[in-house]
Amino acid sequence: MNKHAAPDLKAAHIKGGVATDQRHDSAHKHVTGTAIYIDDMAEPQGLLHGCLGLAAVTHGSIRSMDLSAVRSAPGVVDVLTAKDVPGENDISPTGRHDEPVLADGVVQFYGQPIYCVIAETREQARRATRFAKVEYDEMPFVVDVADLDPLKDKLVTPPLTLKRGDARTAIRKAPKRIKGRMRLGGQDHFYLEGQIAMAVPGEDHDVLVYCSTQHPSEVQHMVAHALGVPNHAVTVEIRRMGGGFGGKETQGNQFAALAAIAARKHRRAVKIRPDRDDDMTATGKRHDFVIDYEVGFDGDGNIHGVDFMFAARCGFSSDLSGPVTDRALFHCDNTYFWPAVHARSAPLYTNTVSNTAFRGFGGPQGMVGAERVIEEVAFALGKDPLDIRKLNFYGEIGDGKDRNVTPYHQPVEDNIIQRIVAELEESCQYARRKRTIAAFNANSRYVKRGIALTPVKFGISFTATQYNQAGALVHVYTDGSVHLNHGGTEMGQGLYLKVAQVVAEEFQIDLDQVKITATTTGKVPNTSATAASSGSDLNGMAAQNAAQQIKDRLIDFAVDKYQVPRDQVIFLPNRVRVGNQEIGFADLVKQAYLARIQLSAAGFYKTPKIHWNRDKGQGRPFYYFAYGAACSEVSIDTLTGEYVVERTDILHDAGRSLNRAIDLGQVEGGFIQGMGWLTTEELWWDAKGRLRTHAPSTYKIPLASDRPKIFNVRLAEWPEAGEPTIHRSKAVGEPPFPLGISVLHALSDAVASVADHTIFPNLDAPATPERVLMAVERMKTQFAGG
Ligand code: MTE
Ligand code: MOS
Repeated sequence: MNKHAAPDLKAAHIKGGVATDQRHDSAHKHVTGTAIYIDDMAEPQGLLHGCLGLAAVTHGSIRSMDLSAVRSAPGVVDVLTAKDVPGENDISPTGRHDEPVLADGVVQFYGQPIYCVIAETREQARRATRFAKVEYDEMPFVVDVADLDPLKDKLVTPPLTLKRGDARTAIRKAPKRIKGRMRLGGQDHFYLEGQIAMAVPGEDHDVLVYCSTQHPSEVQHMVAHALGVPNHAVTVEIRRMGGGFGGKETQGNQFAALAAIAARKHRRAVKIRPDRDDDMTATGKRHDFVIDYEVGFDGDGNIHGVDFMFAARCGFSSDLSGPVTDRALFHCDNTYFWPAVHARSAPLYTNTVSNTAFRGFGGPQGMVGAERVIEEVAFALGKDPLDIRKLNFYGEIGDGKDRNVTPYHQPVEDNIIQRIVAELEESCQYARRKRTIAAFNANSRYVKRGIALTPVKFGISFTATQYNQAGALVHVYTDGSVHLNHGGTEMGQGLYLKVAQVVAEEFQIDLDQVKITATTTGKVPNTSATAASSGSDLNGMAAQNAAQQIKDRLIDFAVDKYQVPRDQVIFLPNRVRVGNQEIGFADLVKQAYLARIQLSAAGFYKTPKIHWNRDKGQGRPFYYFAYGAACSEVSIDTLTGEYVVERTDILHDAGRSLNRAIDLGQVEGGFIQGMGWLTTEELWWDAKGRLRTHAPSTYKIPLASDRPKIFNVRLAEWPEAGEPTIHRSKAVGEPPFPLGISVLHALSDAVASVADHTIFPNLDAPATPERVLMAVERMKTQFAGG
């Protein structure tokens, strides 16, 4: 114990507390290949390998399935079919019972898993899948939602309607009206680490499943359900994913269930890791949409009323299509106040793989709809889209009372979009560059430039209220080091690090004293998916709560032992001041242990204020909103349709960032992924309903060389008026994704220049080079003809 004079409280800091820039805790392991993913784990003795057998028709009943040649192939131990599922053959995450582990009798999409080969090696399992003889009675199928009637055709889950005011009348009475349609493509997650699960059988019915999943609790429940055992028999663990992006929210269930079924049947460990083609064929993607819209507006560009129909290709089962299409509607306003609005969703059944969560969870699709409407209005009036955007923004904090109600009747109380856009417009020199681009285009025959500045408002919280809860488990060991566990999962986004920073801050100990540990259902139960960007909001709070409980006990102990008032026990960096003496943190912990003080705690958090009535389409689904804006400039080659992003400037609101290094990475990565979605990533089904873009040879994600040539990214760390989130930070996982919309609109602007901005480019997404070229050609003919 040292008896130094009272320290300068501000002088010392812990290493790695909140609001400090820390590199990702595994960054060095990622780049040196020492981070352990499931396929890198030491393999248990006697490990077997599974490989899925995929259906070769788009819709049909299975007349016969002869698997004898598969069974007798070298190394094959077993072939599982639907009848080998001991419990219920269902892994539908929302309890709609519409998604079998293995198709039973009927195949509903090309590539649906119908059997699973279990063999001694992975190669043997893969090779043997080819020997199956399956005969089908084919049935009619539907692949494209454009062929469907959103009001009459089959839906996979009930649709949603949002309305405020009388949109029909507002549109009819408005001085001007436009009606249009846009097609908006889907997206494959293209996580670097594909889906994988490894199941290790234990005693009785127990099974331990390692699964690359964002939702260990759901995998646990699905596996238990498929095995027909209580949840307590199944433990699911995941240290890290090599990317999830929403693609591992539910899509891991199938692999985990099959590995567990085989493991239990053969009492050997079983691993399933599909190759990239099978992964892309058999797992769900971002929902693509056909968006129908009608807007009524006046000559100044004020929008009076909007009507939307968002028709989504959901695939053969509901999966998460209900909440995804709901979130599309929740974002069909983006940053705009629609005085009267009517928006409907149509989650349509198609004979395609069941679509699922993907960064933004439908929100970006809704925003693209909103921005399309803005672009139409701007074109009709011959104005700069940015002016129309600003004119229709939600009211600002304080003066926005009559212009702040969303289509779902939640008032926007934390709007900072005016300031974000104003600062970005200034810093990226939008006006000057707009003039420069016009001059450039006037003098450039084949290469045309375009620019667009688009805003983002993203609602934070799960719309299913019960998911907005989290738990954490914190142990303090007698040497003062800390073991941290919580329900959140790590997929590269830096969640583990952020939560560790929160715990270090709470105890005032250096970050390296806090051990980050793998997520497991055995430590923290009944968790939510790490999704909806709320990982750090929820788990940060739960971990802080656990740490606070232990800290309170340490304070009680010190008060009692040293007979000082409570306010004289102060946690300083790596030590504690008790009265006028200082005790090292580890020392105090040791003393507390000897006095039999509990040094472990389970923390809990639930988001306040939120509620949602889906039947009425009213409530407060979101705790708060995250904002941002991006300005992108592109150049297109009008002879080939090829393009480059010349420059992007971003100003994104992360609240008071917990870790700017991580958050900037999220903003940059989110933008690039959003750009990829709207430009080069194209999913293509042929007339037979087969997905033909199932490998990197045919599906193009952005490369490092596709990033904007100039890329300026800043965080808006303003002391905002919002809610008291963890250390006043804001969720940052998904909100930057729709910043990529700026690239789509910049491309549209460049295309429009071909006809002097007199013709609406009507650009669908993804705006692949082919689409850009076709739009340019259309412009040329119409311009010449008109
Ligand atoms: N960042 C990386 N590097 N890898 C990912 O898989 N997923 C995104 C986003 N950022 C993802 C990512 C998605 S879809 C979500 S919902 C959030 O991270 C989830 O993590 P968070 O809630 O901790 O932000
Ligand atoms: Mo993110 S799509 O919510 O996993």
